[in-house]
Parts: sequence; C-alpha cells; structure tokens
Amino acid sequence: MTNTLIEQEKRGALGIIRMNRPPVNALGYELRSQIAEAHAAFEADPEIAVTVLTATGRVFSGGADITEFNTGRKHPYLTELITMLEEGQKPVVAIVNGIAFGGGFELVLGCDYIYALPGAKFSFPEIKLGNIPGAGGTQKLPRLAGGPKALELILTGKAIPADEAVALGIAETVAADEAAALARLEKAVTDDLPRRRVRDIVMTGSPDELDAVAEGFLRRSRGAPAEKTALEAVRKAYDTPIDEALAWERDTFQILNATPEARAMRHLFFAEREARKIADLPKDTPQRTVSSVGVVGAGTMGRSIAMCFADAGLPVILVEEAQDRLDAALAAIAKTYEASREKGRISAEEASARMALIKGTITLDDLAAVDLAIEAVFESMAVKCSVFAALDKVCKPGAILATNTSTLDVNRIAAATARPEDVIGLHFFSPAHIMKLLEVVRAEKTAPDVIATAMEIGRRLGKHSVLVGVCDGFAGNRMFINFNREAQILIEEGALPWQVDAVMTRWGLAMGPLAVMDLAGLDIGYHIRQARGPQTPYPFTAADRLFEAGRLGQKSGKGWYLYEDGARRGTPDPEVEELIKAVSKEKGITRRAVSDDEILRRCMWQLVNTGYQIVEEGIAQRVSDLDVIFVNGYGFPRTRGGPMCFARETGLEQVARDIIRYHAEIGPHWKPSALLLEQAGIAKGNV
Ligand code: NAI
Repeated sequence: MTNTLIEQEKRGALGIIRMNRPPVNALGYELRSQIAEAHAAFEADPEIAVTVLTATGRVFSGGADITEFNTGRKHPYLTELITMLEEGQKPVVAIVNGIAFGGGFELVLGCDYIYALPGAKFSFPEIKLGNIPGAGGTQKLPRLAGGPKALELILTGKAIPADEAVALGIAETVAADEAAALARLEKAVTDDLPRRRVRDIVMTGSPDELDAVAEGFLRRSRGAPAEKTALEAVRKAYDTPIDEALAWERDTFQILNATPEARAMRHLFFAEREARKIADLPKDTPQRTVSSVGVVGAGTMGRSIAMCFADAGLPVILVEEAQDRLDAALAAIAKTYEASREKGRISAEEASARMALIKGTITLDDLAAVDLAIEAVFESMAVKCSVFAALDKVCKPGAILATNTSTLDVNRIAAATARPEDVIGLHFFSPAHIMKLLEVVRAEKTAPDVIATAMEIGRRLGKHSVLVGVCDGFAGNRMFINFNREAQILIEEGALPWQVDAVMTRWGLAMGPLAVMDLAGLDIGYHIRQARGPQTPYPFTAADRLFEAGRLGQKSGKGWYLYEDGARRGTPDPEVEELIKAVSKEKGITRRAVSDDEILRRCMWQLVNTGYQIVEEGIAQRVSDLDVIFVNGYGFPRTRGGPMCFARETGLEQVARDIIRYHAEIGPHWKPSALLLEQAGIAKGNV
C-alpha cells in the first residue's frame, strides 16, 4: 500500500486537500498522483462546490522533487496535474500556509484564487539551478503581477511575503489562519464563487518594458542560457497564445535542465547542503552560545570580519594596537556602511544600527566577556602566538578562540594557550562581509562542540561553512597556489600573461590569475615568497622581477599589464613580454607556442589533482566541498559547478591520463593523486 501523503476533509461545500509530505511537500510522483485522485473525487462529488488545496504544518510546497531531475519522472507530471485543476468544473482555491517555491508556486498559479496565511512566501528559485519555471510560472505570474515584476522575480529567485503578494495582485487576501481562510471562503461559496483561471487573464502593457529589467541580469550572467531564456519566456506571455507558450516553456525547461550549466548548479545545490555534514560529529553535538564577539586586529580582514557580525546583528569589540590605527579602521567601516546606504542596499537606520554594534578599543582586556574572539593580526607565527597567549589570560572560560590565519599551523597557535580544545581556525575570505565562504579549520585538539558552533556561526553570517584540516593553505589556498604556480610555469614555457588570462576568462572566471595579481598588488605575493624562501620548482621569477622593477600592479599603473591614466583594465605591455623572454632564456627554456587548451587543462588539473590529494589526506571531507570552496570563496562561476565538477564533466579518466602524462613530461609536482586514479578507474600498474 502506498503511504498517504495527503489528508482529505469535506467541510460543507468545501473539499479540502492538505498535502502532508514532510519536510517540504516536494511534489514527487506519489504526492502528485494523490492530489490528482483527491481532486477528481471532489469533482465527482455533488456535495462539493469548491476544492481547497493547502498543507499541514508550516510549508505549502518547496516545489519539484529535484532528485527526479536526475532519475526521470512519471505521470502525472506537474504540468498535467495543474491542467487537471484548471480543466475541472469547480473552482480550486489555494490556501498558502508557508513557502510555495518553484513548482509549489506553479501549483498555486493553477488555482483560481490564492488565499495567503501570514507565513506564506512565494518564489521561483529555478534560476539558481540554471533554469526557468517549467510548469506555467513564466506565463501565469505575468498575468497576475505584470510582466516586469514577474521577470524580476524569475531572474532573482527572491521570495515575497504574504502582504507583498497581495499588493502585487498575486494573492487575494491574507487570513490570520486556516480557519479564518476557510470561513472567508465559505462565505464566497455561498455568494457563488465564479471560476477565474489565471491562464485566461488578458495581459496588458508592452513587452518592451522587459528589456530594462533584464539588462543588468543579462550582463552579469555573461551569456548563461537561463537568464536569456527567462526574458524570452515572459515576452511570450504578451504575444503568444497560452497553450503554445506553455508547450514551449515545458520543452525549454527540459532542454535547460540538461545543459551543463544546470547540471553544475544542481551539483552545487547538493554540495552546499552536504558540506554542512560532519562525518564524525554526532548530530546532537551541543553548541556553545555565541552572542558577543571580539576581533583582534583591525586591518583589511579585521574590519570586514567585524562588519560580518554586525550585519548579522551581533555586537563586536574591535581591538587594535594603537589608537590612530583603530580610528582609521572605524572610519573605514563607517565609510563602507555609508557607501552601502548611498547605493540603497541598506537604510540609514540599518547603517547606524550596524555601526553602533561595533565598539573599538586598544585594550585586549575588554574581551573578557566575549563568547568568541577572532584574531586577525599580521600573518606571523610569533605575533599570533603572543596574541593567543594573551587571549588565554583575558577571555572567560568556555570562550571560543579563533584565528583567521590563511596559512599558519593552527595546532601551534592552539599550543600557545592552556586550552587548545577551545581554539579553531575561522578562515574568512576577503572582503569578509561579502564573500560567502568560511573555511572552518579543525585543529588536533579542537573540541567537538567548538567545531559544531563554528559551522553554525558561518550559517548565521549567511555563509557556507566548509570544514577543513590543518595544512599549509588549508584547502582553498593550497589548491589556488598550485593553480597560480602552473600559470607561472606556462608563462616561462612560452605563454604570455594575456593569453593565460583570456583562456581563464573565456572559461568563466571574472578575471585571469595575472590580472588578479595586479589587482591585489605584486608586492603582496613577493613578500610572502621572500618570507618563505625560494621553493623548487620556483616559477615566480618573472613576478619577482616585475616587483623589483617597481611594477606593483594596478596601484602603480603597471604590473603584468599597463594601466594608463588610472584605467582598471590593463593592456598588454611589450616591456613585460621582453622581461618574460629574458627569464625563460636565463633558465635555459626554449619558448614554444602553448595552446589555449593546454593552458586550461594544466591550470585546472592542478586544482583538481591537489583537491584529490587534500581529500586523500583527510584535510577536506569530500570532493564536492572543494567546489563549494571555489565557487563561494574564489569567484568561480556557479555555472561551472567548481573545478572538481568541471573535471567530472570532462571525464575523470581523461583528467587522470593528462596528469599522468604531465607527471612524466613536466615534473614531480604533477604526481597523480592516488584517490583520483582510483576514482578514475585507473589501476596503479597502468600509471
Ligand atoms: P593587515 O596588515 O591589514 O592587518 C593586521 C592588523 O592587525 C593591523 O592593523 C595591525 O595593526 C593589527 N595588529 C597587529 N598586532 C596586533 C595586536 N597584537 N593587537 C591588536 N592588533 C594588532 O592584515 P590582514 O590582511 O587583515 O590579515 C590579517 C590576517 O588575516 C592574517 O593572518 C592573514 O593571513 C589573514 N587573511 C588575510 C586575507 C587577505 O586577503 N588579506 C584573507 C584571509 C585571511
């Protein structure tokens, strides 16, 4: 016997169907069939005048069961179920009690009337999965809310609450609860509620109004298919007969669903949820309360970390060494909030409320009462250890002591305290109040409740927390350094900076690695390399020479590129080409033409091979976590799903074969990861 996923009730002339498939009433095959059967039964029942569709609990429907996207679907499809509702003799009224997302929203738009309860929320999140609504949403929402507003909602995936849904003409009314909605409906039925199919509403206005809404989205999506198609779809609402438009929308949804972009975005959707799970930490691991935060060091990172917490409503005490630096930091924070206010991102009240949450001090003792202290001082083991020794003395028992180090050994930092179990890495990415990644670095002695709390802190800040272990650069930077190193080797072999950058931007990065170095400043990398001493292979000679020649990047008007008259986009510089050629010559390298394909593979496979090594060593929990890291922390495009997803799309065996060849031809830094070989199905003997 199939499980009952709905509740049915007859109340006077109302036939009520309540979906009951926790957690989110995903519209899988069984739920769809049961709604269809119940609807048919009410249609046939002479005592029933109106069918009511609602749900038990706090969710209406989260939409399609997206596992079906990969496994195939069975009839009745959602489109067919909606058609049944529309073709019936009796009106159908949706009482939307909670979220109605995606297919859930489309089911609602297949009803004659929409009553919202206070917890209702409507949204089309399909764009985040590289798609558009596929069961009537693009044709029906414009008929209720107007084309421009509908297009905006489809392109943003933004959720709108009950009162806004009424204001936009989507919902009829907001009722206090289900009983109130039913009472109102009973009255309407007595007054002989007429049918009103959304599909039959005549569109007003002109499709030309859509271009202004779409423009910014199309630019930012850089040719991704879903955004372009959303515009095309809403246009059809104006000028195409609805049945034809619905058939087109259905087919288009299937086509988009099969694009690599949609596959990549679905992969990320699951990867981001998976990243929250920690294999060896029981679900019921307790958490520590964090309601106040201290940040030590108010430089680039300390400032933006403080803003992260203030943005989430937590009070922050920001500690600097000297009053002038503290004043400069607080002024810079105020300026950032002011700029957000000017751009309309936050209101004046929000700006001052957030600023008021950040208090500055030059006395570390002021952190005595905080629940969490985050250190963001210079990247020096000695400085960090002295700060942690001091925090150990100042902070209350049970406070979490975190470091924002990007490379240093968190075990050694923890050892500077008498409570290493309270110490953890919280590696934010610059600028911390914007970047969506938090690497949570677990050290040898970090307590389970500290790990659980740290993961949750990321979530509270609206970030994706990814758990990693201690090694040089943790997961993200260790991979990224090798990516950059390969770009440098390619330049010594014969590629030019602008060729490397063009390959990477064509692939989907917003900027190539050399342009990024120019933006960050060539002095930054230079000083890090000087502090670490030359490594073998050492391909950063050209970068060092540029720095030594006073070419610091954008800030000095010259770096890998030339930035004339303060331009932000650089142009190729023959002097740089000469300098690079001289470096190749000096190293005895005969320059050759390097193909774009080789550049792409070598840069990307460095990320991938290093990524598999990191998982193999237990530094990251799973391969997909690395995609979450690169998309949220390194600006990799969601439409590619991250470097590991790209490798899988290319074919792991192909990737592994390339790496084996590079290992033989280029050098030991290409030693293939055993885990990669295993997952690619290549036996050890074949290497
Ligand atoms: P920064 O040089 O801009 O800021 C460091 C600040 O710490 C300075 O303002 C300094 O006055 C202050 N400071 C030093 N010792 C102190 C002490 N004992 N008490 C109070 N304040 C003290 O450096 P940045 O870039 O903010 O980096 C800080 C940390 O964050 C480093 O560990 C770095 O590796 C890490 N990090 C940096 C990222 C970046 O993109 N800049 C990204 C992620 C992590």
